[in-house]
Amino acid sequence: MNLLTPAQLLAAVPPMPPLPAAAAARIAGFLTELERQASTFVGYPCSQDFDYAEILPLLRFSLNNVGDPFGESIYRENTFAFEREVIAFFQKHLRAPAGETWGYTTAGGTEGNLYGLYLARELYPDGMVYYSEHTHYSAAKIVRVLGARSIMIRGGADGEIDYDDLRETLKIHRDVPPIILANIGTTMHGAIDDLGKIRALFKDLAITRSYIHADAALSGMILPWVADPQLFGFDAGVDSISVSGHKFIGSPMPCGVALARRCYVDRVARSVEYVGCMDTTIAGSRNALSPLILWSALQRRGEAGFRQRAADCFALADYAIGRFQAAGIHAWRHRNSITVVFPRPGAEVLARWQIAPSHDIAHIITLPHVTRAMIDAVVADVAASLNQPEVTAP
Ligand SMILES: Cc1ncc(COP(=O)(O)O)c(C=O)c1O
Repeated sequence: MNLLTPAQLLAAVPPMPPLPAAAAARIAGFLTELERQASTFVGYPCSQDFDYAEILPLLRFSLNNVGDPFGESIYRENTFAFEREVIAFFQKHLRAPAGETWGYTTAGGTEGNLYGLYLARELYPDGMVYYSEHTHYSAAKIVRVLGARSIMIRGGADGEIDYDDLRETLKIHRDVPPIILANIGTTMHGAIDDLGKIRALFKDLAITRSYIHADAALSGMILPWVADPQLFGFDAGVDSISVSGHKFIGSPMPCGVALARRCYVDRVARSVEYVGCMDTTIAGSRNALSPLILWSALQRRGEAGFRQRAADCFALADYAIGRFQAAGIHAWRHRNSITVVFPRPGAEVLARWQIAPSHDIAHIITLPHVTRAMIDAVVADVAASLNQPEVTAP
């Protein structure tokens, strides 16, 4: 029997070589540049008001959440216990019955969408995937990766799926089960596809085999905190859902949560002797720090904190709309959305601010790190850009 203590066993581990001075200076310079960039970060749905310093001492371990977080693993340097608590929080607020659903932390919203559509394709190998033209660009890539048949449905000018087009298209393909990728907050407009209307279409067309995956990248963690949410969770009939962790909650690395009905996950689960647990996730090795970060955020903010956070974001969105309107610019947002849409400004504004355009619109996302001073400056720049007299050729 070995009687050495953990400290004695680790004593001979060789230290890492120190960082050369030039490399340290390079990182210091990068930090300064990041601070400059952070002051222009208004157009992407990623919160930047966090400080998870508590995880710094953990950076010297090879943490890895390989495998199913609800099992035991031979790889014990994992954060499964924290991950399970994070999943329980999401299950509660995405209205997922704990016994009937399962989940894990992903590398982000895209992986969660891949996971949902993977389960759907395994369930219905001949199924047809439908998604609106306003869906995140990852959807088209995912259906290619899965080799799934898919049809893009028209979307309205406000970003919501066109239910007439969906109905007509479903009608033509009634011989195969529909797999709907529904948007619970589109990337550009923050629009929410009406799950009630989609399910009513199934009923109307006598479709009995179907699957709904909800892409709730940003809004999945906003709608639980409002008084009058649109349909968005498992109680609204979704079979799986993907939410990003680095968006509303905020994280220094991309992450997310995927939840799905357990019976569909059981179909894909495989036992792997090498790691001593079930393989139920897309990736093998998985980031073990992101569950800790999400867990820390939940501990720090709590439900009341998230509710207040959402209310503050809405107030900021309304402030932005008011400022745009005072400058004579039409700006708007959907109910329960913090995505403020306005006409696409000139290239000089897009170069100065981190604002993503699409066709003739652009948006800012009023997350807590966006200050009123930033909004005032953006509005002034957009107004100057849009009100420029058109230059006509002589
Ligand atoms: C609606 C929507 N879905 C999916 C994604 C992809 O999420 P991630 O960047 O976390 O992979 C985004 C990203 O902005 C999004 O807006």
